[in-house]
Amino acid sequence: MTAAWFDVRVVSRALAARDILSLVLEAADGGTLPPFDAGAHVDLQLPNGLVRQYSLCNAPAQPERYQLGILLEPNGRGGSLSAHQDIREGDTVRISSPRNLFPLVPAPHALLLAGGIGITPILSMAEDLNARGAPFELHYCVRSPDRAAFRERLQEAPFAPAVNMHFDDLPETMLLLPEVLAAQPVGTHLYVCGPGGFIDFVTSTACAAGWPGSRIHLERFASEVPAGDRRPFEIEIAGTGQVIAVKADQSAATALAAAGVFIPLSCEQGICGTCAMEVLSGIPDHRDMYLSQDERAANDCFTPCCSRAHTPRLVVRL
Ligand code: FES
Repeated sequence: MTAAWFDVRVVSRALAARDILSLVLEAADGGTLPPFDAGAHVDLQLPNGLVRQYSLCNAPAQPERYQLGILLEPNGRGGSLSAHQDIREGDTVRISSPRNLFPLVPAPHALLLAGGIGITPILSMAEDLNARGAPFELHYCVRSPDRAAFRERLQEAPFAPAVNMHFDDLPETMLLLPEVLAAQPVGTHLYVCGPGGFIDFVTSTACAAGWPGSRIHLERFASEVPAGDRRPFEIEIAGTGQVIAVKADQSAATALAAAGVFIPLSCEQGICGTCAMEVLSGIPDHRDMYLSQDERAANDCFTPCCSRAHTPRLVVRL
């Protein structure tokens, strides 16, 4: 489903930590904002024309405003730089309606793990769980205290006793993940967001400790979806038998469109799931952030905007 766009006004702009900008947004027309669930993000149209996804980090119970945390990425493609340099208090900016690819699921306990700017969806989850009286434990790993976004908010929150801070430059605060995992109550679901290396560390440690994929939930940053190699492959449309060649330098979605097969697209970065197609045979090379680990393992669905194929041909159903 394609997201709706609407205007919001920047009612607060402040540094939440070193290189992290906090923006608080309200509806430009003074009305209400669409409700959202913890873990949701919005697309933000930046003044330089780029569109980037940012998680909502306020409590879902505060639908009258949205809060974003935006990390300045000096080696990025200019999205965060435009946000930091060009957006001022009082400005009107355009955002999409919230979408949630990282929702909380009912569980007896939640283990929330954030690395760096990955704290943004985790913070909203903590607010939501606390408001519902649901038990959880939060671990926030960051290079140094000055880079810990929303640190005061975490320290002053009613759920502060559930928050554990870990700083790279303070070895005594190091996250002892195997011990943390082993101490979780039966049925705990794990949620992790942060840089790719952090997510890989958490998921590999959890898998090695016997956690099933169905209880591990993660959200990667769009800029960190692995590129992998780009071998050509073919897509066969089930029913018609049409075979479409996907060249090494084009996406499957582009090849399909060039062949007259139009599929709905939105983010084109493997985030939203709008383009997801059913796969009848062949093994997709999943490069999206939309499918869960179990869905990836099933290999019966793929996102042609960014994913490719491990096998020479994928047979898909439109
Ligand atoms: S268009 Fe968003 S995942 Fe493909």
